Amino acid sequence: MTRPAGSKRPTIVSLGIIAAVVGGAAGAFAYTAGWLSPDRISPDRVADGFGPGVVAGHRINHAKGTCFVGSFHSTGAGAALSTAPMLAKGDFPIVGRFNLGTPDPFAKDDTVRVRGIGMLISAPGGAQWRTAMINAPVFIVSTPQQFYELLQAGGSKDSEAMAKFTAAHPGTKPFLTWAMNGPWTGSYADEGYNGLNSFVFTDAAHTRRTVRWSMTPMQPVRRISATEFAKTGPDALEREIADRIARAPAKWMMTVQIAGEGDPTGDPSKAWPSDRRTVTLGEITADRVIAEADGPCRDLNFDPTVLPVGISTSDDPFPAARSAVYAKSFDRRTAGAANYPRHTNPDRPANTTAKEGGR
Ligand code: HEM
Repeated sequence: MTRPAGSKRPTIVSLGIIAAVVGGAAGAFAYTAGWLSPDRISPDRVADGFGPGVVAGHRINHAKGTCFVGSFHSTGAGAALSTAPMLAKGDFPIVGRFNLGTPDPFAKDDTVRVRGIGMLISAPGGAQWRTAMINAPVFIVSTPQQFYELLQAGGSKDSEAMAKFTAAHPGTKPFLTWAMNGPWTGSYADEGYNGLNSFVFTDAAHTRRTVRWSMTPMQPVRRISATEFAKTGPDALEREIADRIARAPAKWMMTVQIAGEGDPTGDPSKAWPSDRRTVTLGEITADRVIAEADGPCRDLNFDPTVLPVGISTSDDPFPAARSAVYAKSFDRRTAGAANYPRHTNPDRPANTTAKEGGR
């Protein structure tokens, strides 16, 4: 999964890396995603697809990361679209995780194209909005089944498998174009993050609108070349974000784009027209970075189907499928927790698990 900084990498290997890094409740959701039919893929088989590089005690994808705590300052504008308690005007706590889309928790930062953020936004009374978003503008594939096939191609002994997969699925092109030519930055704070999957916002009058959410950085963004970034060191992102936030919080504007008639709400590989109505929900602030080993995000599962009243899943099959596989990852990593360095901080909040509140 990793390569020496500055080494040449053939396209096919790049595609392999992309396949591995993109990856990025259970029973009922898996069924609705069509994953439990005997001739179809299963959450376990998808989890296995992340390959032999998975390290015990760590997430099976997006394995390298660091925790933060912060808040969501809601302007109240979202309350016209959804009854979610955290969309009423106010401030709501966040436990989050900056991460890299790779199954390798020791990957060098410059070998990973996809950067992500996981967030759990809580409201009084126990409501939770969990989300996991990435910096890509679109997802690489159209369906969970295709994602499984992509993982298979990435792990195949056939050196042509990935090229064959992408040739057979031209819908991967917008993602690959971004992966090859899109800008790089030297900071998690300089990235925008996109939810990519669609969800339904329901307002007080029961009107339903299908939306996708995104975060745009409010600090001035500095773009750098991939080569320049490679020189900053294998773990530069974690160091940079901890140093930066120790000086001043990092902030993002949180928005939703509302689908128009006929927009592809079930396919995250397709962008919606840019003139669709966009509503600013408020500001996300990251106030404090805490190393993952002792951080409050370590044992959290940013399951995208854990949603408050007023937000629900749509016709997009991904969240259900993701939920089923994230649960497998959670079960496997907690089973291997003895392999993970932890508890250097006696103040670390205990018993923060995905089973609490979320499921
Ligand atoms: C069928 C498609 C997908 C599969 C099978 C998949 C699989 C996974 C798995 C197994 C994890 C680790 C979960 C854990 O241990 O807590 C993960 C994490 C993550 N995924 Fe996905 N993923 C998929 C699609 C997506 C999409 C569409 C996005 C972005 C919109 C995404 C963004 C993330 C992020 C940001 C994380 C890290 C969350 C954290 O910090 O815990 N994934 N994914």
